[in-house]
Amino acid sequence: MNRREIRPGIEWVGAVDWQRQLFDELIPLPRGTSYNAYLVRGREKTALLDAVDPAFRAVLFQRLEGVERIDYLVAHHAEQDHSGAIPDVLARFPEAKVLATPKGVQFLQELLAVPADRLQAVQDGETLALGGRTLRFLHMPWVHWPETMVSFLEEDKVLFPCDLFGSHLATSDLWARDEAAVLDAARMYYAQILMHAPVVIRKYIERIQALGPALIAPSHGPVYDRPALILEAYRRWAGGVVANKVVLPYVSMHGSTALLVQRLIESLTARGVSVQPFELAHLRLDQFAAALVDAATIVFAAPAVLGGAHPLAAFVAALVDAYKPPVKYAGYLGSYGWSRGQIGKTAEMLPHLKVEVLDPVLCAGLPRVADLEAVDRLAAQIAEKHAGLAPAGG
Ligand code: FEO
Repeated sequence: MNRREIRPGIEWVGAVDWQRQLFDELIPLPRGTSYNAYLVRGREKTALLDAVDPAFRAVLFQRLEGVERIDYLVAHHAEQDHSGAIPDVLARFPEAKVLATPKGVQFLQELLAVPADRLQAVQDGETLALGGRTLRFLHMPWVHWPETMVSFLEEDKVLFPCDLFGSHLATSDLWARDEAAVLDAARMYYAQILMHAPVVIRKYIERIQALGPALIAPSHGPVYDRPALILEAYRRWAGGVVANKVVLPYVSMHGSTALLVQRLIESLTARGVSVQPFELAHLRLDQFAAALVDAATIVFAAPAVLGGAHPLAAFVAALVDAYKPPVKYAGYLGSYGWSRGQIGKTAEMLPHLKVEVLDPVLCAGLPRVADLEAVDRLAAQIAEKHAGLAPAGG
């Protein structure tokens, strides 16, 4: 298998996973993914930047055929899709030392039983001379675990940011040429993996911008030879600016909650508010998460099941609470049977989000005229709160 040159002496040695459909048994991968690794050769030393998912260790070794020696294995992130093949690489290259942040060193011992004497912690800003080439390590926790770092190849101005700027996209394109498709995948990736940490991401964007990278080579998806493309997109996504848009996850068992949903869609649309409904029984989680990147409002719509909100609504609310999108307002619509029970407790569904909770619209059984009018009032309230927001899109 070929290595693919991104600059003389800098080669992609990763694996494309065309078949994978789920990540973490949760995140849909409609377009597969890739596990990028890079071989960087200086005059004296050779470094491998990340390994690959352990299922693709054979692919990595085929790409490394003819490589006599690896002095350093830079582990930007201890998650197994990048680190899982590290024990195999260490067995094959007994001279190699693994470089990681201090927390990365700890995680690699805990997760993969990497022996302590093969690990070396690097400090923020520390450099590694390879001979004519210098790697600078920059600690950037929370992209996407607390131990993460990125590295910058100073002479060539290549940034290796691991998960940051990644996209789950299996492609034969080494470079981000189909920019619309790459940005679409990158936005879904951002929403599910990184949206929870916008403050640090904004800080990192500035730090990275100051380096003036010529290439950004993430660990998933294609390489950016026009870094402004992804830097500007991240600036937008992490900027916290919300648009005139409502995301509406809903589930209906016998059609009553669906009537409330239908009325809200019509009523919001009539007031010039964009709305994106997501039916929860067939949810495409990646599209749902991507929609949250710039939505001003989320409204859950779910009936009662045995005294609580439908479990699908509870499930998606737990995810929203973990993703921490920049939504400002949250509401609830729902129909109940014999008891209102616990439904409509929006604030309790989103304990970690700072949102203004709108009054829920709840009805017993089939919505009556008064219930539909209450939905209209909710739509009017949302339109009023959205006044002045930019249209959805981007
Ligand atoms: Fe691609 Fe957080 O691992």
